[in-house]
Amino acid sequence: MRKISLLLLAFQCITLSLLAQVKLDHLKTENLSNPIGLDVVQPYFSWQLISDQRNIAQTAYEIRVAEDVAALTKGSSWASGKISFNQSIHVPYKGAALTAGKKYYWQVRVWDNNGKASAWSAVNHWQMGLLKPTDWKAQWIEPGYTEDKEFAAPLMRKEFSTGKKIKSATAYITAHGLYEAQINGKRVGDAYLTPGWTSYNKRLQYQAYDVTNLLKDGANAIAVTLGDGWYRGNFSFDHRRNIYGKDIALLLQLDIVYTDGTTATIASDASWKSSTGAIRSNGIYQGEVVDATKEKIGWTVAGYDDKNWSAVKTSNASKDILVATYNEPIKKHETFATLKVITTPKKEKVIDFGQNLVGWVQLKVKGKAGDTIKVSHAEVLDKNGNFYTENLRNAKAQAVYILKGNGEEIFEPHFTFFGFRYIKVEGVATELQPQNFTAIALYSAMQQTGSFTSSDSLINQLQHNIEWGLRGNFVDVPTDCPQRDERMGWTGDAQAFFRTATFLRGVNNFFTKWMKDVSADQIKNGSIPHVIPNVLGEEGWAAGGSAGWADVSTIIPWEMYLVYGDKRILENQYSSMKAWVGYMQSKSKNDLWNTGSHFGDWLFYTMADDNDGNAAITNKYLIAQCFYAYSTQLLINAAKELGKADDVATYTALLQRIKTAFLKEYTTPNGATMSNTQTSYVLALQFDLFPEALRQQAADRLVNNIKQYGNHLTTGFLGTPYLCHVLSRYGYSDVAYTLLLQKTYPSWLYPVTKGATTIWERWDGIRTNGDFQAITMNSFNHYAYGAIGDWMYRVMVGIDVEDGTVGYKQIRIKPHIGGKFTHAYADYITQYGTLSSGWKIENGKLTLHAFVPANTTATIYIPAAAATDVLESGQPLALVKEIEVVGKAKEYVVVKVGSGKYEFSTAYTAKQ
Ligand code: BGC
Repeated sequence: MRKISLLLLAFQCITLSLLAQVKLDHLKTENLSNPIGLDVVQPYFSWQLISDQRNIAQTAYEIRVAEDVAALTKGSSWASGKISFNQSIHVPYKGAALTAGKKYYWQVRVWDNNGKASAWSAVNHWQMGLLKPTDWKAQWIEPGYTEDKEFAAPLMRKEFSTGKKIKSATAYITAHGLYEAQINGKRVGDAYLTPGWTSYNKRLQYQAYDVTNLLKDGANAIAVTLGDGWYRGNFSFDHRRNIYGKDIALLLQLDIVYTDGTTATIASDASWKSSTGAIRSNGIYQGEVVDATKEKIGWTVAGYDDKNWSAVKTSNASKDILVATYNEPIKKHETFATLKVITTPKKEKVIDFGQNLVGWVQLKVKGKAGDTIKVSHAEVLDKNGNFYTENLRNAKAQAVYILKGNGEEIFEPHFTFFGFRYIKVEGVATELQPQNFTAIALYSAMQQTGSFTSSDSLINQLQHNIEWGLRGNFVDVPTDCPQRDERMGWTGDAQAFFRTATFLRGVNNFFTKWMKDVSADQIKNGSIPHVIPNVLGEEGWAAGGSAGWADVSTIIPWEMYLVYGDKRILENQYSSMKAWVGYMQSKSKNDLWNTGSHFGDWLFYTMADDNDGNAAITNKYLIAQCFYAYSTQLLINAAKELGKADDVATYTALLQRIKTAFLKEYTTPNGATMSNTQTSYVLALQFDLFPEALRQQAADRLVNNIKQYGNHLTTGFLGTPYLCHVLSRYGYSDVAYTLLLQKTYPSWLYPVTKGATTIWERWDGIRTNGDFQAITMNSFNHYAYGAIGDWMYRVMVGIDVEDGTVGYKQIRIKPHIGGKFTHAYADYITQYGTLSSGWKIENGKLTLHAFVPANTTATIYIPAAAATDVLESGQPLALVKEIEVVGKAKEYVVVKVGSGKYEFSTAYTAKQ
């Protein structure tokens, strides 16, 4: 008996100590789990400490790396030793030089602030890519036949045999154009529209795939289909062909390692064969034509007779520009079943999927050989209920299928994408069967990091629309819109939405990659083109340099640093940031930047019968001067972080002069702005252009202006992201809430009341009378105005990085309660782990929930008059030993906490 209880006691002790032990999870290499094909020669590691206990922090770590799992414990190739360090993110590899193509295994353990060591984490791995041009044994290959006028998609194939047992096999693939590869009839990987889009002539990404399981003993076949894509398909405003080159091409290398240690390489070269098949034409804007009668049956597997195929042509296109893929590829995500089958007044057969999304529709059909089905795409129906495509301008956006006629056939396109909620189907004689249509959303596979919900269903729909604006427009590059003949990486839109995006998804790698293209396409004189990758050219208007657009070059690197805390983004972008500020300087006279062409406060509110005569128009040069100041400030911030004291001094003096010039040129002595618009006050206040003494009066003027418009905003792309932030900063959160909840045009909720499922390009894409805005520019999926999300997460729920810190190691939770909401809640996966904050008002009581991830600390602002009014999990604050009350700040009690879960409560009376 005694023995049993001793055993029990021992067991309890063990479980207790296990419970107390920190667990490690979410190990990442360069922010990715177990990536294949990295070309970062000194990768960064991160991990999360998992613990429900309060106040858990890391004091030291140890990492070990080896070339196989067994070696980790017996003499790893690199062991960091125990390093005192409290950060569990951005920890650099410091071992010997890494070898191209090699796979490395790693694990980590940590010591916590109680002196306890964790167990070693699970083993994770990464694999290096090809690191230099000579690592490529493959040759660029092009179709060997004369292409037809429609540019049918080339097929390229190669058979080979494997003699021995395979240990591992990696395929490295890229293309001029797009590619889809198969090995032995099975798709290689689950990425779409590869190799994605970069400034192709300067940086072309390749993908690496573990294809060990696709190969077999004996005869094998590799089969690749190429599409025109961004490389040579019709694209940009003028539907220009061959933007990057006229020749479509493939570069593929399959590196095999046998179990006996020997290796083999199968590479694209002159021995490959080429032909065409079912895809008769394809393009990003026009869509795709698939003729199943032209399918080459069996061409993807070994044993196919390709003697009538043409030998490919090899080319010596550059391999010097090849880089490994850094961002998450485009993948398939949500699918949507038919919500409704509609016959429109015009007798069109239409399917409604209930969500405006980006991707394509999978179709199941039966029919005779040669039957043709046309699928057109639309975001909206017009006010009569008819299918509406005029806002797609000249994008045909059509998928055409020609049946081969042997039972059920399944179609989906390959080298295009559509922005749509509705499809019109032509060529099906019978009633449309709902089960035959499935819409598939495609977008870059970034981790979902944020969620937000509140007591107001319209605001929850707005949040949904913000998320879908991101999903539809983060298709390898941040695009303006996904449906019309545009879909380009507009810089202004990207910077306006960036901070909101960081909350919703892990966009670190997505934007690190895109910012490299920003630098690559920056014009010699420092100007930043309007779109990146730059497909507009470098002459005249296309040379960019528009205020609020070109400033993407300073805004995104700085904000990315704040959110993720990885200094490399500043190091990498610093010269680009500086060149952009240099450009503005070179175009200024007496520190006033009032030249050049600017988009201004794009798509601001205009009202024909505005009594003040276009009172919402903000002078474009006033805006330019504001962004000139802001970019200079961000350059100073970056220079400080990078220890560039000379630059700090030079640009601090410049900034002072820019501000002085602003006040002199654009404001009255009492602090009215010359344009007297919301955007002019918002920008001047957000970027601190007014001296301290004039700030509050400027905020009051802003509020007056909002009231003059009957509590409506009048801001466009540039003013909108900061509007509510400025209001809250100057004590007007109540006005911010009024704007947020405003339902009449112009407002965030007006489109929601009109049934929007995404964010619209314009405040009134559909007018109050049901008419559409101008067909030349009326996208129903444009994320810029979704930038209000940032205020909802950072101010309403109150999740933010502590001032003066980066990367959410020190967190601030400062909710702003208002707007008759009874609750608001947000989860946000920081790199340290999940952070959450939420408040609820019920029966005169306010409850504030907070979860602070292990290895971080938080300052929490509890809306209460005195610390004695607050309970934490039912205990008076003073009795909770893990909480330090640091004082009062206006209407808040301020506490500091370590990691863990907290529930504060206090009596609450709503303000009138
Ligand atoms: C795009 C925008 C972009 C703008 C520049 C439009 O055509 O769709 O979102 O920022 O041009 O003015």
